[in-house]
Amino acid sequence: MSDTVSRRSALRLLGGSIAVAAAATSAGITTPSHAAAQERRDPGAGPRVEGLMAELTLDEKISLLHGATDPESLGQAGYIPGVDRLAIPPLRLADGPAGVRVTRHATALPAPVLLASAFDPALARRYGQVIGREGRALGQDVLLSPMVNLIRTPYAGRNFETFGEDPLLSADLVAQEIKGIQSEGLIATVKHFALNNQEKDRMTLDVRVDERTMHEVELRAFQAAVRAGTGAVMGAYNKVNGTFACQNKELLTGILRDRFGFEGWVMSDWGATHSTAAAITAGLDMEMPDGTHFGKALKTAVENGSVAEKYVERSVRRLLTVMDGFGLLDGSVPPRPARDAAAGAAVALEVAKAGATLLRNENRTLPLTGAAALSIAVIGPTGSIPFVSGGGSAHVVPDRADSPLDAIKSRARQSAGQSARQGAGQGAQVSYALGEDLFGKAIPRGAFSRGLDTEGQPVAAGKTWTYEGVLTVEDADEWTFVIHYSGTRPKVLLDGEELFPVAPGLAEQFTGGLVSTAPDGLTVRRKTLDLAKGPHQVKITARGGDKGQVFRLRRVTGATRAQDVARAVRAARAAHSVVLFVYEDATEGQDRTTLALPGHQAALIEAVTAANPRTTVVLNTSSATSMPWLERTAAVLQMYYPGQEGAAATAAVLFGDCDPGGRLTQTFPLDDDYHPAADDPRRYPGVKGTEQYSEGVHVGHRWYDAQGVRPLFPFGHGLSYTTFSYGDLRVRGSGRGLEVTFTVRNTGRRDGIDIPQVYVGPSPDLQLDQPVRALAGYRRIGLRAGEERRIAVRVDERTLSSWDTERHDWVLGTGRRTVWLGASAGDLRLRTVAEVRT
Ligand code: BGC
Repeated sequence: MSDTVSRRSALRLLGGSIAVAAAATSAGITTPSHAAAQERRDPGAGPRVEGLMAELTLDEKISLLHGATDPESLGQAGYIPGVDRLAIPPLRLADGPAGVRVTRHATALPAPVLLASAFDPALARRYGQVIGREGRALGQDVLLSPMVNLIRTPYAGRNFETFGEDPLLSADLVAQEIKGIQSEGLIATVKHFALNNQEKDRMTLDVRVDERTMHEVELRAFQAAVRAGTGAVMGAYNKVNGTFACQNKELLTGILRDRFGFEGWVMSDWGATHSTAAAITAGLDMEMPDGTHFGKALKTAVENGSVAEKYVERSVRRLLTVMDGFGLLDGSVPPRPARDAAAGAAVALEVAKAGATLLRNENRTLPLTGAAALSIAVIGPTGSIPFVSGGGSAHVVPDRADSPLDAIKSRARQSAGQSARQGAGQGAQVSYALGEDLFGKAIPRGAFSRGLDTEGQPVAAGKTWTYEGVLTVEDADEWTFVIHYSGTRPKVLLDGEELFPVAPGLAEQFTGGLVSTAPDGLTVRRKTLDLAKGPHQVKITARGGDKGQVFRLRRVTGATRAQDVARAVRAARAAHSVVLFVYEDATEGQDRTTLALPGHQAALIEAVTAANPRTTVVLNTSSATSMPWLERTAAVLQMYYPGQEGAAATAAVLFGDCDPGGRLTQTFPLDDDYHPAADDPRRYPGVKGTEQYSEGVHVGHRWYDAQGVRPLFPFGHGLSYTTFSYGDLRVRGSGRGLEVTFTVRNTGRRDGIDIPQVYVGPSPDLQLDQPVRALAGYRRIGLRAGEERRIAVRVDERTLSSWDTERHDWVLGTGRRTVWLGASAGDLRLRTVAEVRT
């Protein structure tokens, strides 16, 4: 394939964006002429940037290419000092995917996976606008988001931060979110380029993936982000085919620049730069968060000739060109707006309702109406403590967050008011039981010799407090010690063993969004042990440090747990209906090790559903969960991490003030044994540091179809409170794509939301291992009871194409192709055949 052919076809496929078309070069990814291509493309910087380039000293240029300490930090993740004498302003870079992460309060939006569940690119744009405005209002210039790595394994710790397992849906959403963010003047950073699909070994893992899989699966959303004009790209931690992503020339230059036509700058993930010369020549422009490789080392490399200065200039030009485009170099950037917390909250609420995914609803358990709405037991720790966002860099300090219990109480009172007006006159009874104790109970004073009070020990600044004594255990039991503290973590020794040692490396940083902070803000750590009956030696040392310290030492034991479950069972029995909140706290930096709910929550569900079968389980989880208890429940509502308005949104869905508008963007497997990463450690989590993407293009729902494996809930699944029927499916050619039309009718008695999905089968003309069915289009629609509407969904050429590894280009999958219309990947209702022609 000649380079020119590659370029032309790339442009044809890219279509729309003139900027991208003009930027695309003639180099295919396998040609050796990347550097030459680069030089041809880079002179495009405007006169203002060229003027600055002529003025900047080498030191100044280098200072723009790596992070530094912010003299006036706002608690953001990164800082690039400007060059004051040339009026180049500093840049502040903040996370992240679910809202702006600084030390101040911000709108905590629902997790991106919940946004994605709405299947609504227009909503993604508004989500982006909220973050864009807030980022600027909170003193930031660059947002470290969106994340578009696909959900490839249900265990991955960051599945809540990304959109889902489908390349088309992710591409549609990221494009609109980036447009939204940048329309407010904040520079977006799509991350993590590329194939950072798990947290386990993320710093070192070598992902082995073939060219076709990479293009057809993971890269689609990155390309969409480039087309949408993302200012920055963040390189991933992992290696790809033997080379770290942040010094991978094929990725950073061959694909990102030469094929996608990216003109912005590439920064490393935090600590993901591994070299100086190899990284900058491969195409990394900026090291974050410091200058280990791109600081002094880069200057030395330029001075001794091991890095040509043109590479430094190339990177500076890319950065300044983006800054110029955002008006940051000539002061034309609009003034920073004030925060609009009310508008942010409104979008947060709308997204949480739109993405709420009803997985099961037996005998119309939901919505709660009549007697079911007036006598409710709310159970579970996240029933009273709002689970706002996940852990790690996506965690946001929310403006506010209500407890679901309060939201349910106030909504039940409203129902009671309605029933009183209708003459029924029954008041609302909403009770609460903890069920599963996250933060522990006080250890009785008398259990310690010398009567230690472990509730709220204050230690004055500069003082050290110690206790040495004996803890007497009355019956052998499992104990989870829970420490809550401010300042430096107290040292607690039990029979000589330190209970809460500071974990090495980054592990301390990544401990979860819910479980690592007590409701009053103290840091929390846990340790579970089997304790023998009798005396145990205890030594506690706490240091007041500069500000003084408070700590509590609590416990959960088998006996306290049994009491909590018994209380929950009593509450469930006494109520007409039960809403049982369960959680799973995910964070970057670690993967889950099981799809089961953590702790003893499965046993709690069993006990509560046995006591009251009218139980709705609300899931505040990050990703797929196995549900051995499913059949015992009446309803299951997936709310993921619903953001600061999650309580109101959950109540609105439970009581039917809105239709549950979400559908799954990831397949929920039956259990740990039946999913794409289940039985081959080479595929996940990797063996000897290497991982094979051996499922090829069959990621997510495509794998279940290819293997004939039945999931627990298929991709695209989600129930409405009404029912829909589909009819009159037709397909016609439209350019090099298809236009699929069909009728959707609301056949129930309520207004509702539907998301019909179009899937397309393989091309008979391509001798390739193609997906049995690929998602080809979808449409979110609201229909009134009885309403019918004709819907048209366009299937683009890219969706109908496969990657040709000989030509290193897309090839249209011609011939007779099956087109399905369904309510999910597992509920295909209509089928027809389309003839795809070149
Ligand atoms: C994460 C990035 C994040 C960065 C800065 C890293 O640990 O992987 O997604 O943007 O930290 O907080």
